[in-house]
Amino acid sequence: MELQILQLPKFEDPRGNLSFIEEGKHIEFTIQRTYWIYDVPGGQVRGGHAFKKQHELIVALSGSFDVEVDNGEKKENFSLSRSYYGLYIPAGLWRQMQNFSTNSVALVLSSTHYDENDYIYDYSDFLKYRNIHG
Ligand code: TYD
Repeated sequence: MELQILQLPKFEDPRGNLSFIEEGKHIEFTIQRTYWIYDVPGGQVRGGHAFKKQHELIVALSGSFDVEVDNGEKKENFSLSRSYYGLYIPAGLWRQMQNFSTNSVALVLSSTHYDENDYIYDYSDFLKYRNIHG
């Protein structure tokens, strides 16, 4: 599956709306971990790094933020502000999350358990990893 925004099911109801994600149906990977980022002070940036193995789906459960995804040659910005959209990010891309609105919540469904060795924290290491000579 490539980098893309997925539209998730949305059940509109006068009592409040409901959305969901099913493994094997809306996303292909097995969810091994879920984490969320919240209480982000204005102007802060999260997640400036790449993963070697982890792929993920990011959902703005509340509020809005931008996810900038970089393959080493080109950057693409995705603005998430609706809880029925998810951004699917394959492994091996640099991504950072920024412009968080007050009270926003970023939900991340991850294909791996937490493993610090899966992170590429240094941008020049990332370019080497992608075999791009910057
Ligand atoms: P990190 O992924 O580095 O945050 P960011 O990408 O926004 O910089 O995670 C911050 C800290 O949280 C890190 O020291 C390890 C811990 N952590 C876990 O223990 N488990 C997890 O699933 C995640 C995502 C982070």
